Amino acid sequence: MSVGHAIRGEFPIFETATYFNSCSQGALSHRVRDAVEGWLAGWDANGAEWDFWVERNEAFRSSIASLLNAEVDDVAVTTSVSQGVSALVSALRLGERNRIVISEYEFPTVGQIAHAQELRGAEVVHVRPDDDGSIPPERFAESIDERTALVCCTTLSYRSGHRHDVAAIAEAAHAKGALVLADSYQACGAIELDMRSLGADVVTGGTVKYLLGTAGLGFMWVRPGVWESLLPTQTGWFADEDIFAMSIADYSPSRSARRFDSGTPPVPALFAGVAGISLVAEAGVPAIERHVRGLVDRMVDGLDDLGATVATPRDPARRGPLVCIRSTDVGALVAALASERIVVSSREDKLRVSAHLYNVEEDVDRLLDALARHRSLLA
Ligand SMILES: Cc1ncc(COP(=O)(O)O)c(C=O)c1O
Repeated sequence: MSVGHAIRGEFPIFETATYFNSCSQGALSHRVRDAVEGWLAGWDANGAEWDFWVERNEAFRSSIASLLNAEVDDVAVTTSVSQGVSALVSALRLGERNRIVISEYEFPTVGQIAHAQELRGAEVVHVRPDDDGSIPPERFAESIDERTALVCCTTLSYRSGHRHDVAAIAEAAHAKGALVLADSYQACGAIELDMRSLGADVVTGGTVKYLLGTAGLGFMWVRPGVWESLLPTQTGWFADEDIFAMSIADYSPSRSARRFDSGTPPVPALFAGVAGISLVAEAGVPAIERHVRGLVDRMVDGLDDLGATVATPRDPARRGPLVCIRSTDVGALVAALASERIVVSSREDKLRVSAHLYNVEEDVDRLLDALARHRSLLA
């Protein structure tokens, strides 16, 4: 299966809508529906198919490892980005190095977890965007020093579409001995992420959006050589060296990044997640990225012709599948588009439009035609 028209039939929503909301939730496919129904059927027929469910957990871990060009032992299966990042920061000692640097574009969960660490001595430093909305690596570098434990630079902003130069930020952080977390939820599945070149020490994401699964499932890759030195105090029995030892006598974390897993795996989400990622893997992320780039270029050109204000960077290297457009009344604009069965979302004063493997040029043109009709709602 490929991208665009070749894969669209797999996603029934396109029979009745123009779907541009993958930044919130990827569209449901026949394959994911069948996988979830298969889970229900197995449960119904056999009760707890425990061994198969645990196998799905490992199948998911392997799929993520392939997606990230990484080793299975460096991947934790999490129930959310929040759970993984909480486990990560629980392993930081926060002594002399007690600073957590966060970009203004972090998803709320990262900022909130960072600030929660103030209760155990952390200091949180915010890195704010320049006037043009970008946060160049130099802004991070100015905020990082020998007291910095962790730098959080989301790969792609969920609220503006800005893409960080993670490798350059990581270079600045590593020069001062700090770790780097790149929350890549808005990138994974739509942008190629290669753990050998991204530069971050920890990369998180989940299956709700461009990985085409559902809620309750995420991942956290931790660089080999880094996870060995981190002992999460927020943990659970699936993070143990021997899950089925059932011991309550000690703490013996897994000798792999599995030490950041937690409790009983999120079984329904695993069935959906493995199926969703298989669609992404078959299309191939490089092909998806090329396809999406073409659609986004077409969209931005059309928006320029309309005189719209695009908040997402002009430079294709600094953006991804998400385009944000300023509106005078974004609630009214989302509703107006919804009434025409064009599904988008919003953050602050911006419309969020996100393209994925199943979108086609006709979707872009339909959106642009609708925005022309609602020109008065564009800022
Ligand atoms: C960048 C980013 N990080 C994290 C999340 C979600 O975090 P969690 O899995 O903890 O709900 C989202 C989802 O909306 C997101 O866009």
